[in-house]
Amino acid sequence: MNGDDLVRSVKAVGSVRGLRAVRSALRRRRADARDLPARGPERARVPGAVTGAEPRPGGGLLRFARSELEVRVAAGGAVFWGWDGAGPEPSYALSGPAPEVDPRALLEPDKDGGWRVVSERLTVVVSRHGAVDVCTPGGVVLRRELPPRWWEPVGGGPARWLQRSEVAADARFFGLGGRAGGPRLRDGTYRLWNTDPGGGFGPGDDPLYITMPVQVVVADAGCHLAFYDSTWDGRVVLREGEEGAGSGHDRPGGSELRMDGGPLRCWVVAGTPARVLQGWTALTGAPAQPPSWALGPQHARWGFGSEREVRRVVGGYTERGLPLSALHLDIDHYDEHQVFTVDRAAFPDLPRLAKDLAQDGVRLVSIVDPGVRAEPGNPLYESGRAAGAFVEDARGHEVRGEVWPGECAYPDFTHPAARTWWGGQYQERLDQGFAGVWHDMNEPVSFAPFGDPTLPRSARHDLDGRGGDHREAHNVYGLCMARAGYEGLRGLRPDERPFLFSRSGWAGMQRYGGTWSGDVSTGWPGLRASLSLVLGLGLCGVPYSGPDVGGFTGSPSPELYLRWFQLGAWLPLFRTHAAKWAGRREPWEFGPKVLEGARAALAERQRLHPYFVTLAHVARLTGAPYARPLWWSAPGDRALRDCEDSFLLGDALLVAPVLERGSDRRAVRLPRGRWYDTATGEAHDGPGQVLLNAPLSRIPVLARAGSVIPVLGESGGLELEVWPPAAGRTGGGLVVRDAGDGWEQARVERFTTRVDHGRVVVERVDGGPGAEVGLPVRVRAAVR
Ligand code: GLC
Repeated sequence: MNGDDLVRSVKAVGSVRGLRAVRSALRRRRADARDLPARGPERARVPGAVTGAEPRPGGGLLRFARSELEVRVAAGGAVFWGWDGAGPEPSYALSGPAPEVDPRALLEPDKDGGWRVVSERLTVVVSRHGAVDVCTPGGVVLRRELPPRWWEPVGGGPARWLQRSEVAADARFFGLGGRAGGPRLRDGTYRLWNTDPGGGFGPGDDPLYITMPVQVVVADAGCHLAFYDSTWDGRVVLREGEEGAGSGHDRPGGSELRMDGGPLRCWVVAGTPARVLQGWTALTGAPAQPPSWALGPQHARWGFGSEREVRRVVGGYTERGLPLSALHLDIDHYDEHQVFTVDRAAFPDLPRLAKDLAQDGVRLVSIVDPGVRAEPGNPLYESGRAAGAFVEDARGHEVRGEVWPGECAYPDFTHPAARTWWGGQYQERLDQGFAGVWHDMNEPVSFAPFGDPTLPRSARHDLDGRGGDHREAHNVYGLCMARAGYEGLRGLRPDERPFLFSRSGWAGMQRYGGTWSGDVSTGWPGLRASLSLVLGLGLCGVPYSGPDVGGFTGSPSPELYLRWFQLGAWLPLFRTHAAKWAGRREPWEFGPKVLEGARAALAERQRLHPYFVTLAHVARLTGAPYARPLWWSAPGDRALRDCEDSFLLGDALLVAPVLERGSDRRAVRLPRGRWYDTATGEAHDGPGQVLLNAPLSRIPVLARAGSVIPVLGESGGLELEVWPPAAGRTGGGLVVRDAGDGWEQARVERFTTRVDHGRVVVERVDGGPGAEVGLPVRVRAAVR
């Protein structure tokens, strides 16, 4: 127990829950001491020298003195390699069977006894000692993997491994899941172990709920994504390179990945950022399309406490004419915090409440926690036991932890039968009138005054038939719970797209839904962390997310609340939320000025609803996140790589939130091209930086010249908002209309724009030149 642990335990033991948490933490420690093999002597191994090569479809197999390496290029251009017999499957990240190989990729001898696999987009060069270089067709090295090293327990068991990599001196790192201190990942150590930080977090807290061994690297030579497909605990040490370091030589950037186990295998996808995300989602699956109401404003709180309070809050929105599309009920609406139950005293008739709110266009969303109170006679617990659904230890005893409902059993979501059992439980939520679910505490959490607040690492899991323990299953627990929920909802209500978002997850979680910030601390650093999380997750393939607007923990100043609200309004998941002990989050609680600012942000969000729907479809079709770092369309612009205080929303908009107290102006960095300030219509030419007004009532938002943006017009119908292209240039945009909240095929419409004799001309692409646009067009600035 270290000092921090001691403080935590002294704080915790003051309550019955605290005592149980101490007991549970002790149990966890005992179980691990008993059931995990002690770390005995290990033997270190490196591949040694190459001894032979064997061409295989899409690449080949290279034999080394003490290891072997398979390299293969997939049909879409992604490159895979695996050591010691590791193939792409089985994998929790991949959305299906590994992609077909590219039969044109060939294994050839390289200089100095090495080998290379040449494909259309990438060449993989393997040195005779097992270094792996991923190069562009022009021969520029995007990523160099030094020969790996393993430490194998002499008595058998999983080997730890180390993979060192080098990237260009000018490269910047992004990704690794949801990181509060990014989006650009500074030099430091990042752990790969999904963790509830236990209370509010800020930019310095790491790791958080979603970690992924996914690096997105942006450099002059090109972008790439590297994914090391092992779910085990690990650590990445990142070090940015330096140009002209020591005696004028560049020092490459470096990554050192140490994993406690799992296969050493890697996928690399390279190209423009758009191509990289397209390739990544081709491997791991298209993001689930949220129902269109989930792109509207949402409100939550831990501790509404009663139906009366819910009606009062929703009434507050309607009376003031503020739009609201969903209200979220937290654990306080459960009976003693137990999942799939309702506190009937406080919420006597939830289906009725849901129906009434629906009249005002407000849906109910329910929190769903995985822990099931382990109490004989509790029907959910008994049915889970009957289904053999709960995690057990090595001796076949149920593993218990401590969460909100008390002592809990944990479904083993890596077990197909447990997933089916769990998915069936959502019928109860549907019967109560809920339209969507919010998965929480699924890292999974077991409160602990000391040590790791999760299940024992020795706890057994099915791992889809392969069998293993929590060391391997931990990081995919939330992902598999999302799968269970998503598949359950699809089966129970096949005509509607499920709405699900989850606090924890792993690579591929976008197949089932999105996520949110978790318990971000109220404060200006928390506001910054909110943006970092959304941008980083988007680059890892999870486009739908957003923060607790106002922060989870405290009472934001009116100014901070409004600035957070203004940022949230431009992010995919736009939701106010707070802890039960925290201050209010309703927009009218902060005085008339804030209310007006919030009203304007809400109105703009509503007006842009068709654009958000389009972005959601674009994410589904291409993997491109709605919110993108500024370098997205100009990765060669180094200043943009370091710009972390604004973002692109789709192709058309640049959003520059105010992240600092007391500012009414801010510097905004612009990518190349012309940008219009949407508030004033003023044009600014990038690349460069401009100083823009940011009064409390709004944040700067710029539109790219030539954009065509679907919006709701004043009459409530769909319109095209057009920003004139710069002289001699053209532009365009997409419109994808939502055909409803089911599975109807959405139609993608494409528009182009140009200036002809001083007039802006908009055309529908599939209709041929001069084709009817079929929608009202509103040009938003003068042609210059
Ligand atoms: C966790 C969640 C938070 C929720 C609370 C109570 O802290 O992150 O959003 O309000 O649990 O359920």
